[in-house]
Amino acid sequence: MRPAALLMLLFCSSLKAQENSFTINSIHMESLPAWEVLNGHNLTLKCLVDISTTSQVRPQHLVQFYKDDVMLNNVTSTEHTESYFIPQARVFHSGRYKCTVILNNKVKTTQEYQVVVRGVPNPMVTLNKKEEIEGGIVTVNCSVPEEEPPIYFIIEKNELDAKIVKQRREKNSNQNFVIMEFPIEEQDHLLVFTCQARIMSGIQQQTSEFTRSEFVTVRESFSTPRFHISPRGIITEGDQLQMKCTVQVTHLVQEYPEIIIQKGKTIVATTKHSNEAVYSVMALVEHSGHYKCKVESNRISKASSIVLNITELFPKPKLESSSSLLDQGKRLSLSCLVPGTPLANFTIQKEDMILSQDQNFSKIAEEKDSGVYTCTAGIGKVVKRSSAVQITVCEMLSTPKIFHDAKSEIIKGHTISISCQSINGTAPITYHLLKAMNIFRSYTMTSNDHAIFTDRPIKDVEYQCMADNCHSHSEMVSEVLRVKVIAPVDEVTISILSSNEVRSGDEMVLLCSVKEGTFPITYMFYKEKEDKPFYQTVMNSTQAFWHKQQTSKDQEGQYYCTASNQAILTRSSPRSSTLTVRVFLAPWKKGLIAVIVIGVIIATLIVGAKCYFLRKAKAKQIPVEMSRPAAPLLNSNNEKVSEPNVEANSHYGYNDDVGNHAMKTPNQNKDPQNTDVEYTEVEVSSVEPHQALGTKSTETVYSEIRKVDPNFMENRYSRTEGSLDGT
Ligand SMILES: *[C@@H]1O[C@H](CO)[C@@H](O)[C@H](O)[C@H]1NC(C)=O
Ligand SMILES: *[C@@H]1O[C@H](CO)[C@@H](O)[C@H](O)[C@H]1NC(C)=O
Ligand SMILES: *[C@@H]1O[C@H](CO)[C@@H](O)[C@H](O)[C@H]1NC(C)=O
Ligand SMILES: *[C@@H]1O[C@H](CO)[C@@H](O)[C@H](O)[C@H]1NC(C)=O
Ligand SMILES: *[C@@H]1O[C@H](CO)[C@@H](O)[C@H](O)[C@H]1NC(C)=O
Ligand SMILES: *[C@@H]1O[C@H](CO)[C@@H](O)[C@H](O)[C@H]1NC(C)=O
Ligand SMILES: *[C@@H]1O[C@H](CO)[C@@H](O)[C@H](O)[C@H]1NC(C)=O
Ligand SMILES: *[C@@H]1O[C@H](CO)[C@@H](O)[C@H](O)[C@H]1NC(C)=O
Repeated sequence: MRPAALLMLLFCSSLKAQENSFTINSIHMESLPAWEVLNGHNLTLKCLVDISTTSQVRPQHLVQFYKDDVMLNNVTSTEHTESYFIPQARVFHSGRYKCTVILNNKVKTTQEYQVVVRGVPNPMVTLNKKEEIEGGIVTVNCSVPEEEPPIYFIIEKNELDAKIVKQRREKNSNQNFVIMEFPIEEQDHLLVFTCQARIMSGIQQQTSEFTRSEFVTVRESFSTPRFHISPRGIITEGDQLQMKCTVQVTHLVQEYPEIIIQKGKTIVATTKHSNEAVYSVMALVEHSGHYKCKVESNRISKASSIVLNITELFPKPKLESSSSLLDQGKRLSLSCLVPGTPLANFTIQKEDMILSQDQNFSKIAEEKDSGVYTCTAGIGKVVKRSSAVQITVCEMLSTPKIFHDAKSEIIKGHTISISCQSINGTAPITYHLLKAMNIFRSYTMTSNDHAIFTDRPIKDVEYQCMADNCHSHSEMVSEVLRVKVIAPVDEVTISILSSNEVRSGDEMVLLCSVKEGTFPITYMFYKEKEDKPFYQTVMNSTQAFWHKQQTSKDQEGQYYCTASNQAILTRSSPRSSTLTVRVFLAPWKKGLIAVIVIGVIIATLIVGAKCYFLRKAKAKQIPVEMSRPAAPLLNSNNEKVSEPNVEANSHYGYNDDVGNHAMKTPNQNKDPQNTDVEYTEVEVSSVEPHQALGTKSTETVYSEIRKVDPNFMENRYSRTEGSLDGT
């Protein structure tokens, strides 16, 4: 019965458990021996759970271990503590761990715990060979089998006895080993390789110690070369010199290395198919110096060097010349000298041509003898050449010619090209252009072509060429070239002396002036709207005047002038601005007119009154008496009145103008009493100034114009102006 009762009890309790309450109070992790362990040590992670329950029996729950959010382990337990064992922890075990407990539908997770594994296991270093010749290659395998990649490897090549690192190579590997090749060089003897592994753990780097490989013994592929010089002892010029370079090669090498004998940077002998190279030459002083023998196979190069001292038999000859620069026609004497050794065979050469087999050479120099000369001196087989001597034979210059491209006159500011040329004479020739006896510019020509100088003369100038070359004769001077410079007129201005309000009867003077310009200058004075000048003059001056002794209303108007000279190339000459001149009546004239008018009125009134009274007495005589006083006044208007009369009586002066007009068109004669009409008519009789000048040309103008209707004249002016603009 007892076992049965026990079974019942268990069943009941398990039934009860279904209804019992559970709660997870807390959950945390522990690590043994610590959160940080050395590489290779055992590590135990524990998950500790505290659960409260109403049940007698401990509830079953699920415990899960995570590393970096990846589940590692999943166990069902009824215990407070569950463990996760890591035997021989490695760097790759480092990370953030946590555990989770699941009870029915309740889940609780710990915080994250950092596990750090310190250090990296010592790497294994293996080599593919224990012995190698120079120039060969050793393959090194460095591995850390315990760890996981990526692993960073550092391998160093060391000479066993020396402390220095001969070569260091580094590489990041995606396997837990790396293969690297190391060349074997000529200075290598007994080598050992060391390797270190480095692994990143989070942001920290864990490093191993350096592990050593086994030794590699290096065998020489060939020996250091050796020189053998013959003859032994002192070597004198003329001796047969033999320089031999030999090398010993091991049987391990399939082909001979290359042997090179060098003097400075020049290769003098070489071989590829033998263990010796030979340089054989007749000894000369030039062969003295530093020699080097190099033996090379792909990576290996070994060298040795010697200094060779060759005793001089006789010194280098020297070519002496009477002069290195001599004039044509002078004697050229050359002499080949060897200090202290007169008994030798000599030659004297110009470039490649032998001129003399003698020690001395002499001739009358011509220009074609210019060139490079050398000489040789020989004793037995030893022949030595002197340094080169440059000899220049100089032909005298012919008198230089001077010429230019322009006409005899040039316009100021224009460029003139002046050429200088000496047809004969040795180049280079230096030409100096003299301007007003001073050196203006110089130019050196390498041939007998002409030298061209440019200038922009601003006034008359004299040029001369001076030429010089290597000849001892002093400079040659050309003839004088005279250039006349003409300046165009510039800045034409018109002005009036006194005010431009002129009192009639006064003198009027117009001045036309230019700022500059070559004489003679032609000045032309114009009145606006007239196509021909009323006055024209040629002056050797920068100004010209026009006078009008007694100004009348005719002179009122707008004036301008032009000036031109031979330097004006365009058809229109420079023109001044316009000057406006007004002519006014003198106050005393106005007064006089008023007095006369009043006088006439008074006289008329008196006469009228007289007539009135006379009519009463005798009415027959009146009309005859009244017309008589006016008649002489009108008649005088129709005649040419002399100048003094005009001055004396201004009224007559104005009438004189009208009189002129009346001469042109007598039918159109107007009432002389009407002064307003007189003023307007001054405009029409604008030819008056020409008449005042009394020149033939202006009279012609006058006679032409007076036949023309004023309106038609206006048209003619506008046409003339239009054509002027068109030019
Ligand atoms: C590590 O654990 C192994 C068993 O997995 C055991 O044989 C070894 O002795 C332990 N090492 C140390 C240092 O405790
Ligand atoms: C953990 O184990 C239980 C039973 O042993 C299983 O049912 C469950 O699927 C497992 N969970 C994981 C995430 O492997
Ligand atoms: C290098 O050594 C490791 C360990 O000894 C080995 O696993 C690997 O295969 C070797 N690699 C080569 C290319 O021999
Ligand atoms: C070469 O020999 C000369 C004498 O024959 C001596 O004066 C000179 O110093 C020597 N030079 C070298 C580099 O040996
Ligand atoms: C060459 O000229 C020099 C003087 O310049 C003279 O001393 C020498 O004797 C001459 N030699 C011969 C071979 O004429
Ligand atoms: C000059 O040359 C001739 C002929 O080549 C030779 O016999 C003579 O020995 C030479 N003289 C010297 C000083 O070398
Ligand atoms: C230049 O030289 C030649 C011959 O050399 C001569 O005929 C000619 O007259 C010379 N000309 C001048 C300008 O000296
Ligand atoms: C201007 O000067 C030149 C030279 O002196 C002379 O020939 C010419 O007659 C002069 N002209 C006038 C208008 O004076």
